[in-house]
Amino acid sequence: MSEIVADILTCDNLSVGHGERVIMDRLSFRLAPGKILAIVGPSGCGKSTLMRVLGGLDEPLGGKTTLMGVDLATADTKERESILRRTGFLFQGSALFSSLTLRENIEMPMREFLKAPRREIHQLAEYKLALVGLADAMDKLPSEISGGMAKRAGIARAMALDPSVIFLDEPSAGLDPVSSGRLDELILRIREAYGTTVILVSHEVPSILRTADYCVYLDPDTGTMGAYAPPKTLLQAGQHVKAHAFFTQARFD
Ligand SMILES: Nc1ncnc2c1ncn2[C@@H]1O[C@H](COP(=O)(O)OP(=O)(O)OP(=O)(O)O)[C@@H](O)[C@H]1O
Ligand SMILES: [Mg+2]
Repeated sequence: MSEIVADILTCDNLSVGHGERVIMDRLSFRLAPGKILAIVGPSGCGKSTLMRVLGGLDEPLGGKTTLMGVDLATADTKERESILRRTGFLFQGSALFSSLTLRENIEMPMREFLKAPRREIHQLAEYKLALVGLADAMDKLPSEISGGMAKRAGIARAMALDPSVIFLDEPSAGLDPVSSGRLDELILRIREAYGTTVILVSHEVPSILRTADYCVYLDPDTGTMGAYAPPKTLLQAGQHVKAHAFFTQARFD
């Protein structure tokens, strides 16, 4: 008897874009809970656009996607809020509020959604910052920390409400290889400790190979997915010609 695990994310013939402009269509794939999915492809191919639709922030132009079993495009407000409450985001460029300390940045979503006393929220924020290795920097302003630290603070904020799924758009962009490696380890540690499902956008092949269980490769020439496979499969020459070229070229840049 095989075990049935409900998929935490599904796409069926999904089409995404802006206004009338379709950027990617015919996207169909599914992801089991606790997995790490990388959305990959050349610059401007629609990775962030797809991520926003998968996370319920924008509506699809066609087809269907579900998150935690719910189609957010047709869900009622209550259901939608409950799913979004269990979802964390790190947006591309990860803006922290510049006038707030790291601790205050992490406390913001907690204050909004948790009915907990101030002291408890303080402690929870400290815990989340410790989780990402920033316990000593919690009273610093974003301008006083490095790019790698800002990304980790962004991840702590995405984890503020103990989400089931986190969406990370280019978490290691612009970081040196050491900081980028630390960030990969952090993502793996979070998945290990909390069973969090991670959807990340990345074009950094070493990082994708270290972290992702599956990749969806978006092909701008055909306007649809060129592959849905584990990254190691895409590294090998095979049926996914363009994804393979992307992986091997990017690797030796
Ligand atoms: N809010 C928007 N309104 C209209 N068009 C947009 C909007 N955001 C992005 N686009 C366009 O959609 C296309 C895909 O953009 P998107 O940001 O999703 O790509 P990406 O793969 O994330 O790129 P990058 O690798 O540079 O982050 C681009 O042509 C972009 O100009
Ligand atoms: Mg993007």
